[in-house]
Amino acid sequence: MADDLSQTNLDALRNAALGELDAATDDAGLEAWRIAYLGRSGKLTAVLRGVAQLSPEERRTVGAAGNQLKALLDQRLGGKRTALETARFGNLAEDAIDISLPGRPVAMGRLHPSTLIVREITDIFRSMGFQVVEGPEVELDRYNFEALNIPKDHPARDMFDTFWLDANRDANGDSTMLLRTHTSPMQARIMEANEPPIRVVVPGKCYRYEATDATHESQFYQIEGLAVDRGITFANLKHTLHEFARRLFGSERKVRFRCDYFPFVEPGVDLSIDCFSCDGTDPHCRICRGAGWMEIMGAGMVHPNVLRNVGYDPNEYTGFAFGLGPERIAMLKYGIEDIRLFYGNDIRFLRQF
Ligand code: FA5
Repeated sequence: MADDLSQTNLDALRNAALGELDAATDDAGLEAWRIAYLGRSGKLTAVLRGVAQLSPEERRTVGAAGNQLKALLDQRLGGKRTALETARFGNLAEDAIDISLPGRPVAMGRLHPSTLIVREITDIFRSMGFQVVEGPEVELDRYNFEALNIPKDHPARDMFDTFWLDANRDANGDSTMLLRTHTSPMQARIMEANEPPIRVVVPGKCYRYEATDATHESQFYQIEGLAVDRGITFANLKHTLHEFARRLFGSERKVRFRCDYFPFVEPGVDLSIDCFSCDGTDPHCRICRGAGWMEIMGAGMVHPNVLRNVGYDPNEYTGFAFGLGPERIAMLKYGIEDIRLFYGNDIRFLRQF
């Protein structure tokens, strides 16, 4: 028997191979080991190749021993691979992770419908040259009422059910701070801090101490608009608001202006659009209830007293202002029947936007 094919040498080869396999710690080490023993020029491969030169007698015994050793080394190599993988990734079978399952979808957040409609409306005015500004929700009586031509004890204060704050009181003990009841105080703040020309829209939350129902919330959004310059007339107001209504509700929309009263404008109007759902033909229409018109905002020419209160000369400057409720507009546009849904946090409602 050739020397290197003796049983003793095969035992030595086996011990060396298993010792080195034990010492391998990573994939590269395993691969090097495989090439050294089982590769085309590997040590065991050379032994098996030499079997052909042996006598038929020896070929049988040595061939069988060599093949046994090869089977053992293959098996140990597989075992070592699994051991290294388990050390790296954990035991997949034990962890019971089915890696072929599709991933779980990540729930996507989305914008609140009030935010969406506020953005849609302010974008329209922005495209007409209005700047978007914001102001405080905790406001002074001075801006919410007095600067707007609503002095103390004026009956118009009853139009706005007010949440008063305890924080500040005047000499008579009356509260001077409140949660703003409308965005109109920003008219006075903006005019006080700027010279004309002014073209702004002011989105923001307002609060009223009101019982809630399908169209009234105690917290809701308003968007205020204000344009002040030399020579601004009612025609500018009509054109701007007509254009706004057509862009938001469709180019066929008609608008209707009717007299209304707000102490801070003169003349004051409310603006309605013709019903896009039934055209006034359906007495059960969910939008207009057969009236054919839906009111969407209050507006008017800035009252000369308001201009005076902020230091403007009403003989030099004129302006128009408007205030609308975006949630009420979203209700019309999307057929939402109860304003309380906006703040009810019902995910089934919120998901639809
Ligand atoms: C005002 O608040 C005036 N400041 C609007 C204005 C501005 C007129 C500038 C003239 C010039 P009014 O109280 O009507 O007006 O409110 C305006 C809009 O706010 C309403 O048309 C409505 O859409 C919305 N609104 C008022 N109260 C509530 C409420 N409780 N819940 C939800 N929306 C409301």
